[in-house]
Amino acid sequence: YDYDLLVVGSANADLVIGVERRPGAGETVLGSDLAVHPGGKGANQAVAAARLGARTALLARIGDDAYGRLLLESQRAAGVDTVGVLVGGAPTGVALITVDPSGDNSIVVSPGANARLAPRDVRAATSLFHASRVVSAQLEIPLETVEEVVRTLPPDTRFVLNPSPPRPLDTEVLAACDPLIVNEHEAKVLLGEAYDVASGPEDWARLLLAKGPRSVVVTLGARGALVASSEGVVRVGAVAVDAVDTTGAGDSFTAALAWRLGAGASLAEAAAYAARVGAVAVTRRGAQESFPTADEVEALRGGGAA
Ligand code: RIB
Ligand code: NA
Repeated sequence: YDYDLLVVGSANADLVIGVERRPGAGETVLGSDLAVHPGGKGANQAVAAARLGARTALLARIGDDAYGRLLLESQRAAGVDTVGVLVGGAPTGVALITVDPSGDNSIVVSPGANARLAPRDVRAATSLFHASRVVSAQLEIPLETVEEVVRTLPPDTRFVLNPSPPRPLDTEVLAACDPLIVNEHEAKVLLGEAYDVASGPEDWARLLLAKGPRSVVVTLGARGALVASSEGVVRVGAVAVDAVDTTGAGDSFTAALAWRLGAGASLAEAAAYAARVGAVAVTRRGAQESFPTADEVEALRGGGAA
């Protein structure tokens, strides 16, 4: 394989303002200076994997504009192969992000060019799929494009999906996931009414697994994660850190997990590694700029935090 990971997904310019608290409807609050960071769940995953040392390619669409150039520059600086980054059709996607003092964020995304990443773009990139050990995706691109990804997967290629922002998925997509990676919010949308009667995260994992994915990971933020497969449900411990900005931490978790799985790790091993990657990411501002190198992940282990 030429690539450990092919990421198919979004690229956004993140316009970030720190706030003491979020405004309610009809309310105005003053925030910090504006920061512009390269982001987008797909672009974030690609940078996260490449920074850890994975040979990574990105299939995405950006606009022919300054934000698009910012994103390309960030991919290249991390060592991502950008042969699959298509330019034009609409302005680069933008995410309006507020970050509060606890490091939690709220995000509104204007998809822009991401909405123009089409099934035919996937078909035109078939050679990238055949050159990749693992393929990962998220849902900031059209659902029919993700469906085309699933149809394009070579038989030996593993598929990892973080359905964010969440939408109900059909069985064809669900059955391809190994794993499906969700947080509580995403689990709630995918489970619908079953969520309300479920007793907690272990139940969500079991109920999601029953929908057809080969495996499921439920991320629980500061409470760690659960991995579920035909072998049962296993809890993965959290890594205690002081959160500054959680933006993109989930993307770095997914990318790290996908990469470790491709390298032969078990689901529980890969999730434990990914939890350490995400833990470093939340201690720094921004998304892509906050992702660690493999050495920094090792240093966290050495510090005894894991
Ligand atoms: O997951 C974090 C990302 O969500 C941000 O970078 C933003 O662009 C949105 O896509
Ligand atoms: Na961060």
